[in-house]
Amino acid sequence: MNILPNARMLIIHDDLDDMSLAVARRIATSAAEAIADRGSFNLVLAGGETPRRCYERLQKLPVFWDQVQVCFSDERCLPKNDNRRNDTMARDALLNHVDIPPTNIHAIPAELGAGEAASRYAALLEHVGMLDLVLLGMGEDGHTASLFPGYSAAAAATVAVYDAPKPPAERVSLSMKTLIAARQKIFMVSGAGKRDALQRILQGELLPAACVASAEWHIDRAALPESF
Ligand code: 6PG
Repeated sequence: MNILPNARMLIIHDDLDDMSLAVARRIATSAAEAIADRGSFNLVLAGGETPRRCYERLQKLPVFWDQVQVCFSDERCLPKNDNRRNDTMARDALLNHVDIPPTNIHAIPAELGAGEAASRYAALLEHVGMLDLVLLGMGEDGHTASLFPGYSAAAAATVAVYDAPKPPAERVSLSMKTLIAARQKIFMVSGAGKRDALQRILQGELLPAACVASAEWHIDRAALPESF
């Protein structure tokens, strides 16, 4: 039953493990289809902790990684290789364990500061072309990528963020326009901490995650609001 406004599909999983395997398989299938159709697969990885297990599962699935370009939904303005960076988690959980050419991994140069990094990444995204699949998480306040409640819609492909309520305050994010323009958008939402934000979205509140039109939502039972 699709009761999330704006959602293309809603899949409920028993737990994070089941969800992680299911989404890893979705990504591998989507990659195979894109590579068969267009010879390449432009994948955007989500940050945060939720996708870690999915990435670990994805390591083990058959993907033609030399045909995959990897970008990031957002990055925290921290030094390169800092453990709190989203690209560090993706490398630890996935990219260091698959045969992907280093030149296919497009980290956001957030160590340069939000403004400089955002403009450089916008130019890179221009070069990469249409995004095939964007993986996203949702915060407890309904943010996604580094677009927090009250974010302002930007015409640019990326935005510099200086006031994120989730530390660090300074970040770079793909803009809502860029997220929506991707061929496929997949949310992974897990845990009781996300119930409130989901409840608010179900009641029609346009939190940032709810603004990503036509997304496929994967939610585990722990995250489902009581009223569901
Ligand atoms: C970040 C992420 C952010 C994340 C959500 C959910 O930099 O923090 O990009 O958007 O996806 O906050 O985080 P968890 O998966 O850790 O709950």
